[in-house]
Amino acid sequence: MSRSYNIAVIGGDGIGPEVVREGLRVLERVASIEGFTARTTSYPFGAEHYLRTKEVFPDSAFEEIRAQDAILLGAIGDPRIEVGYLEFGIIARLRFGLDLYVNLRPIKLYAEHLCPLKGKTPADVDFVVVRENTEDAYAGMYGYFKKGTPDEIATQEILFTRKGVERVIRYAFDLARRRGKAKKLTLVDKANAVRAMDLWTRTFAEVGAEYPDIAREHAYIDAATMWCVKNPEWFDTVVTSNMFGDILTDLAAMIQGGLGVAASGNLHPGKVSLFEPIHGSAPKYAGKNVASPVATIMAVQMMLDYLGEARGARRIEESVAGLLRSRRLPSLGSDSGLSTSAVGDLVLEELERAQVPA
Ligand code: IPM
Ligand code: MN
Repeated sequence: MSRSYNIAVIGGDGIGPEVVREGLRVLERVASIEGFTARTTSYPFGAEHYLRTKEVFPDSAFEEIRAQDAILLGAIGDPRIEVGYLEFGIIARLRFGLDLYVNLRPIKLYAEHLCPLKGKTPADVDFVVVRENTEDAYAGMYGYFKKGTPDEIATQEILFTRKGVERVIRYAFDLARRRGKAKKLTLVDKANAVRAMDLWTRTFAEVGAEYPDIAREHAYIDAATMWCVKNPEWFDTVVTSNMFGDILTDLAAMIQGGLGVAASGNLHPGKVSLFEPIHGSAPKYAGKNVASPVATIMAVQMMLDYLGEARGARRIEESVAGLLRSRRLPSLGSDSGLSTSAVGDLVLEELERAQVPA
């Protein structure tokens, strides 16, 4: 039976469209090598579209996208538009509207020279962060009182639900088991100060009892950032709340080579899910053909893995790893001296060579 997938593509703002273009070239080539079909539908949402039409993300498009197999997103955010407006209208709409409760962020160093930590090798940096993706301060429950006066009060609720906490913790235990590496799950929280996080502590212990083969560890978020730099080898699978996960994974991205390589999957297991680089729209590099497309290519890799195309995913991972190890990319920043499309070409070249076990 032929395998065929419908993919919604939102290039978005800034460097988004450029890096997504390279991701799609890689997707198309892998599909033909591995014998599946990826049918893509592009959507124009983002700042340009908004400025032209005043439309952020119409319901009809949302419903269309909901019916696809996966979504590939570039980046959203533009200095001409009020901070957070499009981020909430597009990214949060997808995360919340599709109930993408897992934000999966693998932290894997492919080549030692890309790690800024002295003496750390690929063997030391290989973990995955499971970030809760639908609750916490991101739930949008905020307000002002006496706005604009000297007596102004601003509030925003940090909220956790038993259901939300439990399902993401369960996902993380399952993942720790599937990885089969250190068989260890670390809960990162701030339960010593944010007492509502006691819900995480209790749920972690209760769900953990069902996974006697997985060791349970705990770190407060402040200490976790320290460990991430000092002893990244200590982590295997990490589960944490939305905001701490947001912060921890930008830091962690730096020890795997930077935002030029870090990708993420926003998942609702079994349903349409969204894949994106973790970097933003980097407006100052937009249209210059200098941004690294590697993070988006790795988002495509995660997407294929999610869709069950393990060989295609493996092929992309081997290609990127080979390229990074070869040192043909001096860096993964805008200063690499290689254009976005030239890096895409190099990945395409590697794809032909990649050895993937049957
Ligand atoms: C991310 C981003 C978003 C977030 C922003 C753009 C709202 O930083 O995907 O990590 O905070 O989740
Ligand atoms: Mn972030």
